[in-house]
Amino acid sequence: MARKKFIAGNWKMNTTVEEACALAKGVVDTVGNVSDVDIAVCPPYTNLSAVYEIIKNSNVKLGAQDVHWEAKGAYTGKVSCAMLKSVGVTYVIVGHSEQRQYFGETDATVNKKVKAVLAAGLLPIICVGETLEERKGGKMDAVIERQVRGAFEGLSVEDTLKCTIAYEPVWAIGTGETATPKQANDAHVFIRGIIFKLYGDETAGAMRIQYGGSMKPDNAKDLLGQKDVDGGLIGGAALKATDFAGIVRPV
Ligand code: 13P
Repeated sequence: MARKKFIAGNWKMNTTVEEACALAKGVVDTVGNVSDVDIAVCPPYTNLSAVYEIIKNSNVKLGAQDVHWEAKGAYTGKVSCAMLKSVGVTYVIVGHSEQRQYFGETDATVNKKVKAVLAAGLLPIICVGETLEERKGGKMDAVIERQVRGAFEGLSVEDTLKCTIAYEPVWAIGTGETATPKQANDAHVFIRGIIFKLYGDETAGAMRIQYGGSMKPDNAKDLLGQKDVDGGLIGGAALKATDFAGIVRPV
């Protein structure tokens, strides 16, 4: 089954509202009419509304970088799925390695977030990936399998089909060091194999798996040309509209 490519920009903790609007405008101007690739931008919470106003009549969708699983209440600093939905969000990044590394995200909290996102009618982008230490120590497969199984625990086939997985080797994030196309594809094949074991052929074949980690215009073509690489989750290069566009339309 042909999987439509999906390129998403994770702006992380960058952009004031003015900067976010300028960047969003740049994205709309360059790739806003693209329809053969799914495109999303994920600004910080503070800029979601303003960015939505700029992208809403284009093919660019809005994503958030995280969410809390509870519906509402005394959770100072947190934002719910309903809140995200109310400002035009479609996608929610869940389980980013920076959340796992710095903010206590676990496979169990990822699973709660994925379920909350789906229950709200939003679409999760679930991040998995090994650290350099884990890769060197031969633990890569075990770590990724634990993360994938943890994230999808208790999900129906129907819900699973609404998810995107982002394979982001931690050692390639923001380091300028990219997984080789073969390393990326091998990891994606492995991840697809886990989905196959859990949900069977059709679901595994339909699952989009993005690569994330120092993807740029000059390496995007090789990475995206791999059979099992279905898109990218872009950090640094998503902060310049021309670079982001160069990944959506790599030459
Ligand atoms: P970089 O593209 O800056 O390496 O970041 C990747 C990433 O973490 C996207 O979520």
